[in-house]
Amino acid sequence: MRIAILPDAAAIAGLAADRIEALYRRKPAFVLGLATGSTPLPLYAELVERHKAGRISFAEVSSYNLDEYVGLPRDHVEGYSNFIHRHLVDLVDFREGAAHGPDAWTGDSHAAAAAYDAAIREAGGIDLQVLGIGSDGHIGFNEPAGSLTSRTHVGVLTEQTRRDNSRFFDGDIDAVPTHCITQGLGTIMEARENLMICTGEGKAEAVRELVEGPVSQRWPATILQMHPNTVVFLDEAAASRLEMKDFYREVWEKEQLPL
Ligand code: PGA
Repeated sequence: MRIAILPDAAAIAGLAADRIEALYRRKPAFVLGLATGSTPLPLYAELVERHKAGRISFAEVSSYNLDEYVGLPRDHVEGYSNFIHRHLVDLVDFREGAAHGPDAWTGDSHAAAAAYDAAIREAGGIDLQVLGIGSDGHIGFNEPAGSLTSRTHVGVLTEQTRRDNSRFFDGDIDAVPTHCITQGLGTIMEARENLMICTGEGKAEAVRELVEGPVSQRWPATILQMHPNTVVFLDEAAASRLEMKDFYREVWEKEQLPL
């Protein structure tokens, strides 16, 4: 993993968007993995701006969301497919039908999960996956104690995650679904590049485990330590509990030098 500690969310959005723009220039028909939640919103806003400025087009891109709630009506504003359409897909030039998410409305979520996993493979795999982290260490909705090699599957949300996400449901934890379909950790590990973004003090403990803890089911994001091409973008607050902060800064700076 490469660790970038940056001053704020805007600086992170700029550098993360640079990587997506660079991928677009190499491969205009790239496959983009999208995360929901508050963390990636500045990045999506930056991508919309760059699209408006003519720097990036999504006309040949296909996207795959990380996860979806099970149990919400299809048109619920907080459904993740709707969220991604509202914050990115509908604001740029995606082709109709090119933005995908797990289908939680088929009546057989287990079959839908397997079909989604197969669809990602058939699309050629994800070129670049945007990730956030849960305060309990989840990525996608892979909660603690799940298999580190799981495929896309139906999962149960921890109370911590439901409490964290209740802010999207008028503060009512009972309104937050208990189940989801999520890309598995094994699925996420097949992405060619991961951009993990973590901001705010609330993520500091999970970030410490992600970067400096042992790989473990207790903190599912730690599996990214085994990924060959993952950048972790942190603001100062999210990085605040890291032991080797100064070293990570030095490495990041030196890596930017042409050699
Ligand atoms: P957040 O969610 O970006 O809203 O903090 C991150 C996550 O739960 O993965």
